This record gives sequence, C-alpha cells and structure tokens, in this order.
Amino acid sequence: MKSLEQAVQLFQAGKLAEAEAACRAFRKKAPKHPGALHLEGLCAAGRGAVGEAIELLERAARHAPAYEEAQHDLGHLYARAGRAEDAERVWRRSIARFPMSPAAYDALGVLLTRARRFDEAILLLVTALGLDAGDPLARKHLGDTHWDAGREAEAMPHHEAAFDLWRGPPDPVFFEHLWQQATRAGKHDRARAVLERWREGCPDDPVAAHLLAASSGGAAPARASDGYVEHTFDAFAATFDEQLASIGYRTHTLVAEALVRARPEEGEVGLDAGCGTGLCGPLLRPRARRLVGVDLSSAMLARAAGTGCYDELVHAELSRFLAERGGFDWIVSADTLCYFGELAGVLGGVARALLSGGHVVFSVERLADGDAFALQAHGRYSHTPAFVERSLGDAGLTLVAQATETLRHENGRPVEGLIVTAAR
Ligand SMILES: C[S@@+](CC[C@H](N)C(=O)[O-])C[C@H]1O[C@@H](n2cnc3c(N)ncnc32)[C@H](O)[C@@H]1O
Repeated sequence: MKSLEQAVQLFQAGKLAEAEAACRAFRKKAPKHPGALHLEGLCAAGRGAVGEAIELLERAARHAPAYEEAQHDLGHLYARAGRAEDAERVWRRSIARFPMSPAAYDALGVLLTRARRFDEAILLLVTALGLDAGDPLARKHLGDTHWDAGREAEAMPHHEAAFDLWRGPPDPVFFEHLWQQATRAGKHDRARAVLERWREGCPDDPVAAHLLAASSGGAAPARASDGYVEHTFDAFAATFDEQLASIGYRTHTLVAEALVRARPEEGEVGLDAGCGTGLCGPLLRPRARRLVGVDLSSAMLARAAGTGCYDELVHAELSRFLAERGGFDWIVSADTLCYFGELAGVLGGVARALLSGGHVVFSVERLADGDAFALQAHGRYSHTPAFVERSLGDAGLTLVAQATETLRHENGRPVEGLIVTAAR
C-alpha cells in the first residue's frame, strides 16, 4: 500500500494522475480516510471531473465534520459547478465555526461579488482583511468588488496595495489590469514597475515583453509578436464588438468607404487582412465575388465565422499569409497595421498578393512628431504620413489618397488616424 504521504508529495509535484492512483491504492485499506478522500477529490477536480470530486469531498466531510480544509475546498468545487447556494452554505457554516479564520470570508466575498451582492461581499472581504491585513488576495478581491460595482477609483488603492503585498508568481490577468489602471491614471512609474515584476516572474510571457518594450522608450520591435497578438485578441474576442461600439469605433466604415471610392466595381476577389471578429465583413461582402479573411487570433476568427460574410477564413500571421497567397483585386486592413512598426515588409507582401492594378486600403494611427513610427505605451504603433508614403514606395505601391480621420475615442479623446489608399 502506498502511503498517503507519498500521494501528497506526488500531488505537490503536480503529478496528479500518479497522486490519484496512490490515493486509490491507499483507500483499498482505509476506504473512509478523510484525508485520502479529500486528496483524491482534488486530483479528480484537477482532471476536470468536478462531479466526482464533489462526491469524494462530501464523503470526506461526512466522515470528519470538523475537517475544515475539506469543507473549504468543497465550497470551491460547488462554486465551480455553479452550485452557488451550496457553496454559500458551506462557507457560512465555516464562518460560524471558525470566526477568526479569514479564508471563508474571502471565498464567500468572491462568490457574492460574482452574484453582484456587492455590499455583502465588501463586508466579508473587509472582515477577512481585519483578520489578516497582509493577505494580497483578499486585498485584490476587495478591489475587484469595487471594480465590478463600477467604483473604479475605489478599486485602485486596493489593487495597488495587493500589488505591493504580492509575493508569489504574477497573475497575468491581474497584472495586465494593474498596468492598464496605472497607465490610464498617468502613473507611468507604477505601470512600469508592474511590467517589470510581471516580466521577472514570467520571462516568457509575450504580453509582458511587448508592453515593457512599449513603455521603455527604447528601440521598438519591428512588429508586435505573434504571441502578444494572439493572447491579446483571444482574450478580447468575446467583448470586442461591444467595446468598440462603446468608443465610437468607425475605422471599418472609413476603410470600406475608401475602397468604394477607389474601386466602384463589384464582384471582385477581396482580402480582409486582420479581419478580427468580422466588423468589416458586412460592408465588404456586397462588393466581393469572393471574400477571404485572415487573422492570428482563433477566437476572433470564430466570431468572424459567425457573421457568415466570408468565403474563407485563414488562421495565419499576415506577412506569412501574403507571402503564400495572391490573386486579390483589393486588400483591406482596418486597425491591424497598428500592430506593425516597420511597414515595408508587410506592404511588400500586399504588393505581391495584389493583382496588377489592384488596390489596398488600410488604417494606421497618426504620429504627429518624428519621421517614422513609434510604439506607444498602450502597445500599438503609430506612424507619420511621410513614413507611410516612403514605405509604400519601398514596397512598389503608389499612394492614391491619405486622409486624416478620427478612428475612435479613448479616455474621451479622439484617436487620429490615417486612411490610406494605394495601388499596385
Ligand atoms: C483591432 S483588431 C481589428 C479587427 C478588424 N479589422 C476590425 O476593424 O474590427 C486587429 C486584428 O488584427 C489581428 N492581427 C494583428 N497583427 C496581426 C498579424 N501580424 N497577423 C494577422 N493578424 C494580426 C488581430 O488578431 C486582431 O484581430
């Protein structure tokens, strides 16, 4: 019989399948052992078998009603299974039994925040912090509650304090949120400190690497990395259309209008380069006999597929796609070349992929000073009109029109962009 201690060691080493097997072996001799039932349940949860895990932890709790850790984890499993009432019951009982232990106050606070019972959640989280003021998670959760309740200014000090207390590996979602909050508030030193800690804890994280490059003011990479683009837009896809509508996004309309001016004919073969969720699709579809979309984010592409506007959707990096495919009468690219700094390479691909006499219409964010491009702190590039014109020339394309337009609003301010039309 394997010892339970061995099973615990395997579990702590992340070897869940072996830990589960060790628990099972142990329970052949001691089937009701609460610790073994508990650990086996956690292993089952680790492989996604939440129902099985709940059953095991309920048994552990039945055999040892005072075994608090099992009760606590059972609450988390109920919450994960969508059984919020059961989770609340378990954690309220823990609070009644162990009123000086902060864990259940914290867990219940998070649960009630999800249920939008903000006032009750705040009371619980403040109590958790009263019992352990140095707990970064409870502090973060209190910030989250204020944030979800729409009280962003009240969230910020708690999130900042959680960051100062943070000791373990960075939580990328939280750290990105912290960076965004600090940037929006103009606290650039703090934004940079967040990125540096994030990068230090997760040296391979492409988002931390890109944003750090953007905030450093040093030499910018030639374009945003594939990892950064995929991560950012996979995470953004679910709320992209709604968020862009809320900031008055109109780049898709502007490029579609410019395309009609350049090519009034219908029934051609077109490419939507960086098609995203397909906002351009309904505007481009009536113009095209065949419409292809390409994008690096599979979650964005899944939404584009839902529009029913595209004949073909390709999951690929744009420059690589353009090196392999061609035969397009026109190529449209809305709000995508702002993830490229250098433009000559991607525009060279555009020139190759266009038929002779074909047109490209794209947007970039306008850089007022300097003569080339800059990677801005928010992570997108901006370009000067002169640089765009030079890059088109280097790629063998002829500038037809370049108009300055408001692409959307950010923090209440207009984002100025260029709508560029060029011909091969
Ligand atoms: C801001 S969205 C714009 C989407 C769409 N064109 C629109 O106007 O709604 C930018 C899109 O470009 C894609 N993208 C950025 N860099 C890319 C690259 N190098 N190759 C392919 N897709 C890229 C992103 O995945 C994202 O879907």
